[in-house]
Amino acid sequence: MAEKSSRLPGFYKLSLEERVATVAGWAGLDEADQAVLLGQGLPAAQAGYMIENAIGTFALPLGVAANFLVNGRDVLVPMAVEEPSVLAAVSHAAKLARAGGGFQAETTEPIMIGQVQVLDMPDLVTAVQAVQANKQRLMDAADESSHNIVRRGGGARDVEVCPFPESPVGPMLVVHLLYDTRDAMGANAINTAVEAIAPLIAGLTGGRVNLRILSNLCDRRLATARCTVPAEELSLPDGTPGASVARLIEEANALAVVDPYRAATHNKGIMNGVDAVCIATGNDWRAVEAGAHAYAARNGAYSSLTDWHVDENGDLFGEITLPLAVGVVGGATKVHPTARVALKILGLATAEELAQVTAAVGLAQNLAAIKALATTGIQHGHMRLHARQVALAAGARDGQVEQIAGLLVAEKNIRVERARELLHQTSA
Ligand code: MEV
Repeated sequence: MAEKSSRLPGFYKLSLEERVATVAGWAGLDEADQAVLLGQGLPAAQAGYMIENAIGTFALPLGVAANFLVNGRDVLVPMAVEEPSVLAAVSHAAKLARAGGGFQAETTEPIMIGQVQVLDMPDLVTAVQAVQANKQRLMDAADESSHNIVRRGGGARDVEVCPFPESPVGPMLVVHLLYDTRDAMGANAINTAVEAIAPLIAGLTGGRVNLRILSNLCDRRLATARCTVPAEELSLPDGTPGASVARLIEEANALAVVDPYRAATHNKGIMNGVDAVCIATGNDWRAVEAGAHAYAARNGAYSSLTDWHVDENGDLFGEITLPLAVGVVGGATKVHPTARVALKILGLATAEELAQVTAAVGLAQNLAAIKALATTGIQHGHMRLHARQVALAAGARDGQVEQIAGLLVAEKNIRVERARELLHQTSA
């Protein structure tokens, strides 16, 4: 069978049903999967089992990003997001990267950190030594707490000790359990493990344990993606050479490196893509957000998660590294019907592969944003999509949305009142 390509020319012009049929053919979705996409993904009754006090569900648009080639493999990336332009932008950037061989991505082992806070020790130095001398005992106890993860090849990997001689409440010791959670995001497993070893730590240190919880700054669970965009791919219709655009993108990135005000927005754009994949696949996007921003500040100043520079051949090289605690088992990944279908579309076997694709999406999303910002400006591309939303808000229905949006853009007057007038005129 020929390799599947994620290039889907004209996909955006198809009707929604046709798009579902195309993706179904691509990913081998059955009737039930397609019904999930076209109908209500998560039934309200099921929502009632997922959270307390449920009164319904809240739906978001789900799209697929095209053109992604990650580690030589074509993937269609499901993304759940309410913001116009995100899907179009990321697919455009993935096409640029594709021209240079796509994305190369890698991950560290999926190692989470669990923290145990110890106070009221008779002596901090002795407490540190006692924990260090009993690492193996603590790791064995942690493994005892979750046979499932250990059976799947995960489990305790190390114990680290972080003494804080001074804190607002006096000397404190924090014990880090490094725990490989394999294909799960792992919050449950790591929390169970730190709760299990806490009494042992209290005994070893002679102290009192307070918090026992994972850290979302999972800097031992990193994903990196890289790409090279050939300079000529970046040339603009107005004749601006690609080499100049590559330089403008490098400058845009440099601003985010040195200035936290810009870095916040720059990284927000990255998270537009990363979150959308996390949401679509039922992953905890707040955890990923927390980890990404904490990691962006790891050197003491909040900075860019990406690096873009013109390489020795004059092409544009980009790289991102961020913590990505995402799973393909556990949590909502298998419970939420749409997340299940999204994972089927991705067709990835492991959490590490999901993290690699997600990192590539973050890098592509960032490229699209800073390319637009450094050239035409962001509003240019947004206009048509914004006009569609305004038309919808004014009450336009299926056949009318494109027509009204087109008129609003032509008039450069994208306001709901004008959309209402146009609707009135066209349906009179
Ligand atoms: C908008 O959602 C995201 C951007 O602001 C990101 C950026 O400025 O890099 C366009």
